[in-house]
Amino acid sequence: MNILVVGSGGREHAICYKIAQSPKADKIYCAPGNAGIASVAECVDIGAMEFEKLAAFAREKAIDLTVIGMDDPLVGGIVDVFEKEGLRVFGPDKKAAILEGSKSFSKDLMKKYDIPTAGYEVFTDADKACEYLESADYPIVLKADGLALGKGVLICNTKEEALEGVDTIMRDKKFGDAGNTMVIEEFMTGREVSVLSFVDGKTIKIMSSAQDHKRAGDGDTGLNTGGMGTFCPSPFYTDEVDKFCREHIYQKTVDAMKAEGREFKGVIFFGLMLTTKGPRVLEYNARFGDPEAQVVLTRMENDIVDIFERCIDGTLGEVELKFSDKASVCVMLASDGYPLSYEKGFEITGLDEFDKHEGYFCFHSGTKFNEDGKIVTNGGRVLGITALGNDLKEARANAYKATEWVEFKNKYMRTDIGKAIENS
Ligand code: AMP
Ligand code: GLY
Repeated sequence: MNILVVGSGGREHAICYKIAQSPKADKIYCAPGNAGIASVAECVDIGAMEFEKLAAFAREKAIDLTVIGMDDPLVGGIVDVFEKEGLRVFGPDKKAAILEGSKSFSKDLMKKYDIPTAGYEVFTDADKACEYLESADYPIVLKADGLALGKGVLICNTKEEALEGVDTIMRDKKFGDAGNTMVIEEFMTGREVSVLSFVDGKTIKIMSSAQDHKRAGDGDTGLNTGGMGTFCPSPFYTDEVDKFCREHIYQKTVDAMKAEGREFKGVIFFGLMLTTKGPRVLEYNARFGDPEAQVVLTRMENDIVDIFERCIDGTLGEVELKFSDKASVCVMLASDGYPLSYEKGFEITGLDEFDKHEGYFCFHSGTKFNEDGKIVTNGGRVLGITALGNDLKEARANAYKATEWVEFKNKYMRTDIGKAIENS
């Protein structure tokens, strides 16, 4: 099969790596891709939001399957464009991708179908939101309704902070139109777990659990980022938690979307918080997580192309997902200064080392080739250094060992990815 992947980050690198293992895959393309993806796929210079150009490319190259990695094109309706042209594509259509695209939609869905989540109110008027905040309990959480590169969530400890937050989101429109509507949500505490799943419209199959580290600094300090590292599986995702989520969250979400006339086909990513009152949904995403994909897919034993096709065809119920007994840890190497300001264009050395060691992976997030054909840094998150191990402790030690193989100017990483699992 000829397969096209849409996206340019570490997640898409991990997806391409996994597709390349499939006996069904002949030629793999990635648009726009990056310097690391170029080692497993042919990169195509078309942007992820150029739907018509991508569809024309898929026709011209007789692409049998297109896989959408990123949230923006999904929420923007790329799947609808491909389907209208009779092209096979993996991912939710626009109607279903709203599960990630609108926080007020997802909160209303959970309320209507009794799926456990934090209490909330939705506001389209900034004055009304401020009025509500006068008598609210603190801390409180403000969320821009739409996509905001993972940055549209403000945790406010005081009323003053919250009122400023309303200005940021609704009046100054720091996140653009994403802030036309805002959700104000009850603050919850507990450990976070990411659970990814494949969905074929009616059946849902759960992948191995993972945990992300969203803050930029050690000890969960500093600003929120796209994700500084992950481990998989999460020892905090116990059988009891799994049972609760299967009963109250997973299938209920799929059924709710179907009942709303928004049949979901693709990946649903459940962002869960394990509170003292039980698991609660923090958020839904309509795609693989980044860097969750890096740790989950390196442990997945199924042919991913087969699974993608089953999601499209509605035959996911006939297979079981399989994951290796190994554990996996991903440490993100970033450009110092991320997520605020950072420099790019520095040469990266030592990448060859990964070809010499089995069980070690270097997934590229932000890299490109410079004019001399050298691989250079090209983003805030640069490389997702991922390693397997017999348990989480070993995987963690292996991943940190491998972070020393590569060098670039202003290389920055957290030193405590997976530290919480040291003794598990
Ligand atoms: P989201 O994009 O909704 O996952 O929010 C980003 C991050 O904000 C989450 O991973 C949590 O760490 C935090 N967060 C979101 N909602 C809440 C909440 N209701 N209570 C506490 N923390 C939250
Ligand atoms: N790592 C979190 C996300 O992909 O949204």
